[in-house]
Amino acid sequence: MPVGRPFISCMYRLVCVHCAAVYPADQIIYTCSRCGHLLAVEYPLDELSIDRSRWRRRPLSVWRYRELLPVTGEPVTLQEGGTPLYHLKRIGEELGLPHLYAKHEGMNPSGSFKDRGMTVGVSMAVELGMTQVACASTGNTSASLAQYAAKAGMPAVVLLPAGKVALGKIAQALMHGAKVISIRGNFDRALEMVHELCLSHGLYLLNSVNPYRLEGQKTIGFEVVDQLGQVPDRFVLPVGNAGNISAVHKGLNELLALGFIDRLPMMTGVQAAGSAPIVRAVREDLPAVIPELSPETIATAIRIGAPVNAEKALVAIRATGGTATTVTDAEILAMQRDLARKEGIGVEPASAASVAGIRRLVEDGQIDRNERIVCVVTGHLLKDPETVIAQCAPPCEIDADLSSLLSALSS
Ligand code: F0G
Repeated sequence: MPVGRPFISCMYRLVCVHCAAVYPADQIIYTCSRCGHLLAVEYPLDELSIDRSRWRRRPLSVWRYRELLPVTGEPVTLQEGGTPLYHLKRIGEELGLPHLYAKHEGMNPSGSFKDRGMTVGVSMAVELGMTQVACASTGNTSASLAQYAAKAGMPAVVLLPAGKVALGKIAQALMHGAKVISIRGNFDRALEMVHELCLSHGLYLLNSVNPYRLEGQKTIGFEVVDQLGQVPDRFVLPVGNAGNISAVHKGLNELLALGFIDRLPMMTGVQAAGSAPIVRAVREDLPAVIPELSPETIATAIRIGAPVNAEKALVAIRATGGTATTVTDAEILAMQRDLARKEGIGVEPASAASVAGIRRLVEDGQIDRNERIVCVVTGHLLKDPETVIAQCAPPCEIDADLSSLLSALSS
C-alpha cells in the first residue's frame, strides 16, 4: 500500500459482479483477483439514512448525491454536473416523439461527461494515497484526467491511439500538463498497455474499469430523475467502452433499492456501425461480446472494439428490457447537424449517436411514441472542430466595404 492520508471507510466495499468475491474499499484493485471479472462498489443501502429533501437543498451537481459516492474527504472538484436537460422540440416533432430530451454533458468543465467520473476517481486517488494517475483514451478521458490531475497537483500519463483522437481533446490534455503518449495501435491496445503499466508501476488507473470512476458517472441518472421529476421510460447512451451505460443503470438501481423511484428505464445503447460489438451481442443474444478487431467510425470517441464494461452493460440492457442499435457515420453526422441547427445544441459526433439511434429505432418501429426518452449527449461540439469544418462551407471572404457585404448576403 502506498502511504497517504488515512483512509477511513467501512461504509462500502468492492464486490465482483461475476463471482461475488468481496474486497475492502481501500484495496488498489481493478478486476477480481479470483476470476478476473469486473468489480462494483456496494453500499449497505438499508443502513444508509438518506434524506432526499437534503439533496434538493444542494445545487444540482455530482456532489449533491455524496451519500451515494465513495469519497469521504474533501473532493477534488471543478464544479462538475448540473448539466442542462433540454426538450428536443423540433427533432421530437419530426420523429413524432413529444417527450424527447437531451442531457447535455458537453456542458461539464472539460466538455464531456468524463468529469463526473474524474472528480470522484481523482478524489479517490488522493484518498488512497496514490501519487500518479494514468489512463488510455479515445480523447475525452485524457482531457478530463489531465484537468483533474492538474487541480489535484498530481502528475498524469495518458495513452492515445495515434492519429485517431480529435484535435480539441489532445489540446486539452497537453495544455493541462499531462504526459501525452500516442501509440501506434488502437484504443483497446492502449488500454491493455496502461493497465499493465499501472499494475507494475503503481500508477492509479482511471479508465472506466476503475469502479470508483463509474460512481461519479452514475449521477447523470440521478440528475435526470431530479430534473424530470420522474423516471424516464428510456435512457439512451452512445456506447464505447460501455462504462457510462453501466454506471447510469447501477445508480438507478440504487435509487430503486432505496425506494426513491419505482421502476427502471429501458437502457438503450447506440454504437457506430463499424464498431458495434455490444449491439451484435444483444442482437444475437450472445453471453459475451466478440471483440471487433478493427473498429472504425468517424465518431472516434466510440471507436472501441473490446469494451471492458461489456459484462455490466449487457446486464443493464437485458434486465431493463432495453435494446441496442447501430447508426452509420452518415446518420451520426446528419444528427450532429440537426442538433446544432434545429435545437441550438452543439455536440461532437459520438454524442449525436444517441439521438441518431432514436431516429433509427423510430424508423424501425421499435419505439412507442408516448415514451419519455432521455438521450445523453456526451461531449461538446468544440471537441472535434475538424469534423465540423469538414461538413460546413467555409466563411466567404469579401472586401471590407458595404456593397461587397450586400452582394455576399444576396448571393
Ligand atoms: N461519448 C463520448 C463523447 C465519449 O468520449 C465516450 C467514451 C463515449 C461516448 C462512450 O462512453 O466508453 O462509457 O461507453 N470515451 C472514452 C474516452 C473511451 O477515452 O474518452 P463509454
